[in-house]
Order: sequence, then C-alpha cells, then structure tokens
Amino acid sequence: MAAGGGAPEPRVLVCLGALLAAWVAVGLEAVVIGEVHENVTLHCGNILGPRGLVTWYRNDSEPVFLLSSNSSLPPAEPRFSLVDANSLHIKSLSLGDEGNYTCQEILNVTQWFQVWLQVANPPPSAPQCWAQMASGSFMLQLTCRWDGGYPDPDFVWIEEPGGVIVGKSKLGVEMLSESQLSDGKKFKCVTSHIVGPESGASCVVQIRGPSLLSEPMKTCFVGGNVTLTCQVSGAYPPAKILWLRNLSQPEVVIQPSSRHLITQDGQNSTLTIHNCSQDLDEGYYVCRAESPVGVREVEIWLSVKEPLNIGGIVGTIVSLLLLGLAIISGLLLYYSPVFCWKVGNTFRGQNMDDVMVLVDSEEEEEEEGDAAVEEEEEAHEREELPKEIPKQDHIHRVTALVNGNIEQMGNGFQDLQDDSSEEHSDIVQEDRPV
Ligand SMILES: *[C@@H]1O[C@H](CO)[C@@H](O)[C@H](O)[C@H]1NC(C)=O
Ligand SMILES: *[C@@H]1O[C@H](CO)[C@@H](O)[C@H](O)[C@H]1NC(C)=O
Ligand SMILES: *[C@@H]1O[C@H](CO)[C@@H](O)[C@H](O)[C@H]1NC(C)=O
Ligand SMILES: *[C@@H]1O[C@H](CO)[C@@H](O)[C@H](O)[C@H]1NC(C)=O
Ligand SMILES: *[C@@H]1O[C@H](CO)[C@@H](O)[C@H](O)[C@H]1NC(C)=O
Ligand SMILES: *[C@@H]1O[C@H](CO)[C@@H](O)[C@H](O)[C@H]1NC(C)=O
Ligand SMILES: *[C@@H]1O[C@H](CO)[C@@H](O)[C@H](O)[C@H]1NC(C)=O
Ligand SMILES: *[C@@H]1O[C@H](CO)[C@@H](O)[C@H](O)[C@H]1NC(C)=O
Repeated sequence: MAAGGGAPEPRVLVCLGALLAAWVAVGLEAVVIGEVHENVTLHCGNILGPRGLVTWYRNDSEPVFLLSSNSSLPPAEPRFSLVDANSLHIKSLSLGDEGNYTCQEILNVTQWFQVWLQVANPPPSAPQCWAQMASGSFMLQLTCRWDGGYPDPDFVWIEEPGGVIVGKSKLGVEMLSESQLSDGKKFKCVTSHIVGPESGASCVVQIRGPSLLSEPMKTCFVGGNVTLTCQVSGAYPPAKILWLRNLSQPEVVIQPSSRHLITQDGQNSTLTIHNCSQDLDEGYYVCRAESPVGVREVEIWLSVKEPLNIGGIVGTIVSLLLLGLAIISGLLLYYSPVFCWKVGNTFRGQNMDDVMVLVDSEEEEEEEGDAAVEEEEEAHEREELPKEIPKQDHIHRVTALVNGNIEQMGNGFQDLQDDSSEEHSDIVQEDRPV
C-alpha cells in the first residue's frame, strides 16, 4: 500500500473484519466467511429464547455427524464445540472446512437450518490495471482487477502526483472525464483484501495523448488506386483513428465504401482510394487520432494526375538512344582518319614522336607562338599526312580530350557544335533554290 493511500485502509480492514464473522442471512440459509487459521462460530438459526436438542451435520454427498447438544454423544473432532447450547464453534479453520453445514433443532417441531461456510483467501497474484476509452462516451475508464481471492477485494484509485482519491469501490472501475485528464498523468490503483497482505498491493497506469506520423503528400493517377497511411504512436489508452475529408466545414468522416477501404492494424490505419478521380478525390485528407487524453490531426494532400503515357516515354527513350548512337557513330566516322593514322604509326614504331607532335602543336595553339623546331616537326607531319592539314584544329582537341583537359574539352565541344552548325547552314544554302 502506498503512503498516500495507506491512511484510510486499516479502517476498511477493521470494518470488513467485523462483517466477516457476521451472519449474512438469506431466508433460512446463511453464508459465513471465515479465515484460514482463525476460529469461526456457526449459529443454528437466529432464534432467541429456549432451544431444543441441536445436532450439527456436515453436508457432503450425505450428511456427516459433527456435534450434538446431547452431551452423551461426543463431537466428531475436538476442533468442534458447542457455544450457547446451539452454535457450532470451529477452531483453526482450514480450506477443507469450506462447505455447507446443517443444524437440526428438535423442539415442539423439528427445524433445519443451513449455513454455508466459506474460507477467505487473498488473490494469489498481483493486481492488474489498465485504461481504456469508455464505449459510447468520450471518457476514460480506469479498470483494476485482482482476481482469484475471496471475498472481493477493495479498490482505491488515486491520482498521482497529489494523492487525490479518484474513487473507491469493490469493482475497481472508475470513469474520468476529459477535464480530469492530461498528457502524462498517472493513476494508481491500491487494492486491499481482508486476508491479504497488510500493505495491500498496487499498480499504476500512465495516460498519454497520441502522436501522429504520416506522409504530407500523395499522388494518384486517374483511374488508379492510392493508399494513405497514418501511424499513431505513444497513445495510452490507444486512440481511435478516423479519416476525414476537409472539402467542407465541418469536415466529413470518410465511411468505408466500394471506393474507400479503411484498414487498421494496431495503431496504424490506411485509407485506400480506388479508381481515383480528379474532381472527387483531389484535395486534403485528414487523419485524426482521438483519445480523451488528446486529439491530434495530420493533413495529407492528394493530387490526382493524368496517367503517364508509357508508350510515349518508351518512344522518347528509344529516339534519344538512337540519336545518341547516330551522333557517336557520326563522330567516329568523322575522326576515323586520325585514329587510323595513329594506329598505323603505332605499328610503324614511331608513335612516340607523333604523339609528341600532337601535344606540342596544341600547346602552340594555346600560347600563340612556340619553338621553331616544333613548327618544323609539324611541317614534317603535314608533309607525311597532307590530308590532315585542314583538320589540324580537331586533332588538337582530340589530344586535349585524351589528356583529360576539361577546358579544352569544353572548347572542343563548342567548336564541334559550331562546325556542325556551319556544315548545316552550308547544306541549307546548298538546298536553297538559286
Ligand atoms: C480459537 O478458539 C480457541 C478456543 O476454542 C482459543 O483458545 C483461541 O485463542 C482462538 N483463536 C483465535 C485466533 O481467536
Ligand atoms: C444437507 O443435509 C440435510 C440433511 O440431510 C439436507 O436436508 C439438506 O438438503 C442438505 N443440503 C445440501 C445443500 O445438500
Ligand atoms: C442422547 O443420546 C443418547 C445416546 O444415543 C440417547 O440414549 C438419549 O436418549 C439422547 N438424549 C436425548 C435427549 O435425545
Ligand atoms: C452450499 O449450498 C449452496 C446451496 O444452498 C450451494 O450453492 C453451494 O455450492 C454449496 N457449497 C458447497 C461447498 O457445496
Ligand atoms: C411448544 O409446545 C408447548 C405446549 O405444547 C407450547 O406451550 C409452546 O409454546 C410450544 N413452543 C413453541 C416454540 O412452539
Ligand atoms: C485497384 O484496386 C482494385 C481493387 O483492389 C484492383 O482490382 C485494381 O486492379 C487496382 N488498380 C490498379 C491500377 O492497381
Ligand atoms: C482544408 O485544409 C487546408 C489546410 O489546413 C485549409 O487550407 C483549407 O482551408 C481546408 N479546407 C476547408 C474547406 O476547410
Ligand atoms: C471509375 O470511375 C469512373 C468515373 O469517375 C467510372 O466511369 C468508371 O466506371 C470507374 N471504374 C471502375 C472500375 O469503377
């Protein structure tokens, strides 16, 4: 038992203890609750005044004699004795003493009285408590259970911190309104049983408002399906998840239909929209998590688009690939003489000199003026390959590319483009009617 709830408990125990030995008369039958190792007295009816001959029996499959007021008949066990010439006193109760007892009284007439003796025991395990949303109302229900004992234990729900008593009952159930709740608040259930441990037992629940996780935007193609997901976390008790549309004020709760499928797995909810339509479905959707502890909302924007033309995409990709291939093969063809020449030189074993020539000539172009020796060499080269002379610029640029000179590469590309456009314009000029 907690220090906070400890003060009022001993009184409750004392009251119950007093009740314990009392008769709970139900017509001529009675129920008496005893405790293990304690003594108990069973009364033969509630008659005052002179009594007749009283005999006590234990009702099993058939009555078993226990005791009689006829002193010539000894009691079945020394634990049994007669009090006030009619009541059965049983010493040191055990669980085996539980059962029905009958007393027969012979006065002018013979009367029978029945007593049901029950032996109290505390619940064998720890109490359990939880919070849930009350069905049908926006309230929180706190429930405390401590099963397996006899008779029913007592429950006290206490707010923490503060120790304010929320309620006391034999049921262990308390209803709380929103105003009594706040995120993170704790409630403690303190249980007590007449034969339970003196300190009682307790359990605690902590309530938490929901947090929401969702994607802010979703896209659906006209005629297609889309699934919006919403994940609630941290909520205790679990929140109720709703999907709403904010087309109009107030927002409308989306009901499941042939086009709207709502599924929930634990605290994850999904809304699947079938056969998307721009007019009907585009816009804001709201996922709302409701709990008496708090309400959270998240908005999801759904855009509905015309489906992409797959054929068009494939066509475009193919045309681009073809165009690329055409350009590459064109370039290869355009520069093939150079490559052939270079390959040829390699086979002749003069590649070193020739490559030197190419690099040097490029530098010459950059720095505008260089050694005369190189010019000579270049001239020599021209002599060797007279075809290459008009395409000298291009040779330089190819070398730059091989060397990985990015600036040169850029320039080369630009120049190539210029060249091709020049060529193009030439063709146009040629095509022009004179
Ligand atoms: C039970 O009764 C006996 C006498 O029959 C008495 O000596 C004993 O103290 C009683 N025990 C309790 C726990 O009251
Ligand atoms: C107990 O025994 C008496 C006497 O035989 C009988 O009248 C009564 O019905 C029995 N009660 C039960 C509950 O068996
Ligand atoms: C008491 O029991 C004895 C022995 O069974 C019997 O003889 C006697 O008559 C009984 N007395 C009464 C008053 O029933
Ligand atoms: C005692 O009798 C009542 C009916 O009067 C019955 O419901 C109960 O089960 C009986 N108890 C036992 C231990 O047999
Ligand atoms: C028992 O009978 C006597 C005489 O027959 C009578 O005076 C007495 O009142 C009766 N007692 C009861 C409890 O009925
Ligand atoms: C949309 O969902 C429906 C029903 O589950 C299904 O029959 C249809 O094939 C789905 N359409 C697409 C484009 O996935
Ligand atoms: C829907 O929600 C958006 C985002 O909060 C808001 O701008 C818009 O006004 C809402 N629509 C209606 C009809 O309330
Ligand atoms: C999809 O919606 C359009 C109208 O928006 C309708 O004509 C069509 O029949 C629907 N298709 C299915 C499979 O429900």
